[in-house]
Amino acid sequence: MIVLLLGSGGREHALAHAIASSSDCEKLFTAPGNPGTAACGRNVALDPLDFEALMDFCEEEGVDLVVVGPEAPLVAGIVDAFGERPTAPAVVGPGKDAAQLEGSKAFAKAFMARHGIPTAGYKAFTAAEREEGLAHLAAAPTPIVLKADGLAAGKGVLILEDRAEAQAEFAAMLDGKFGDAGHQVVVEQFLDGVEMSVFAVSDGETYALLPSSKDYKRIGEGDTGLNTGGMGAISPVPYADTDLMARIRERIVAPTVRGLAKDGLDYRGFIYFGLMIVDGEPLVIEYNCRMGDPETQAVLPLLDQELLPVLEALPDGRLDDLVEPGGDLAVRPGAAATIVLASGGYPEAYSKDKAIEGPADPASPASPADAALIYHAGTRLDGEGILRTNGGRVMACTGRGPNLAAALDQANAAADTLCFEKLYRRSDIGSGF
Ligand code: AMP
Ligand code: GLY
Repeated sequence: MIVLLLGSGGREHALAHAIASSSDCEKLFTAPGNPGTAACGRNVALDPLDFEALMDFCEEEGVDLVVVGPEAPLVAGIVDAFGERPTAPAVVGPGKDAAQLEGSKAFAKAFMARHGIPTAGYKAFTAAEREEGLAHLAAAPTPIVLKADGLAAGKGVLILEDRAEAQAEFAAMLDGKFGDAGHQVVVEQFLDGVEMSVFAVSDGETYALLPSSKDYKRIGEGDTGLNTGGMGAISPVPYADTDLMARIRERIVAPTVRGLAKDGLDYRGFIYFGLMIVDGEPLVIEYNCRMGDPETQAVLPLLDQELLPVLEALPDGRLDDLVEPGGDLAVRPGAAATIVLASGGYPEAYSKDKAIEGPADPASPASPADAALIYHAGTRLDGEGILRTNGGRVMACTGRGPNLAAALDQANAAADTLCFEKLYRRSDIGSGF
């Protein structure tokens, strides 16, 4: 099987490593990739949003399957575009309509309401409904949760204590603070609980779960400060016992997969459920139509079955050949923890091009049997072969062990081997369990 993977972050390095380690993988291309994915296959300088160029490349190289890391190509309709060219390979992921689960918060909320999936109460307002929205906010209980409807690079959610500030932000969103993403604003009930993420693969009829994960979104220790893409992750979630996972399957995952089929939405890919557990009951905060970053770097190293056959089965609707429907993918015992190494200043302005010192060949994670894996995210090799920083989140170090404490020790030990100017990492990932 010849595979084309799209994306260039730490998630994609983890996916590339898992795909390339599958016995069925003849060749792996990553577009555009990073130095880590280059060690798993060949990087190609193609834009993940240039569907025509990607299809031409797939024809030239005989690509059999396309795997999409980030949401943008899915929300832009890559599955539909490839579906229209008879010679194009299958793409793992939802069609454009189904990708609205991530692409539009108002769509996702209406989907959940229609299918009885537990979520925070909400009202959605368009620019034409500005006055109703302001009146609603004047009487809403605080804190107030405001969400720009569309993709806003993780910045479109505001949680505000002050009603007047919420009204001003609401108006700013409708006035284009997040561009088109704010043409509609969702005002949501605040949920007080603990967060976790669950990932499913679905072939449109059935699903299977990957290990659960918790990601650490804020930049500062103790989960304080600005939101980031994620500064670390652990897997599985210590409080996600069999009872809670059974409720998550029954109330959230199964109704979502059934709801998609009922609505005629083509969804054959990863489903990311961002959950809040309130008094033991799971509610959906958000759907994403892809895997999480950095959760993927913690979750995939726990898999005890090859990833590529599972991905191959999704577009063909053959998942039940490989896994028990509604069950779990095979996982190894123990835990994994991932610590992100960021450039100081991230998620605001930060510098690039700092030389990265570390193990002789940090371009490839250790073999799957090893306890620590180093994934590349924002890195590049310069003309002289020196590895340099090239983004806010630079690398992700994953440790594995018989329990979370052991996994964290391994992750920290791996992170200690890497060094660059203004390196910043959180020291409290996974603490408190
Ligand atoms: P999202 O971009 O939807 O993942 O939201 C970003 C973060 O905002 C989430 O990870 C939560 O921590 C928080 N959040 C979103 N919605 C709510 C809510 N209804 N109640 C409390 N916190 C929320
Ligand atoms: N780590 C959060 C996300 O990938 O959306």
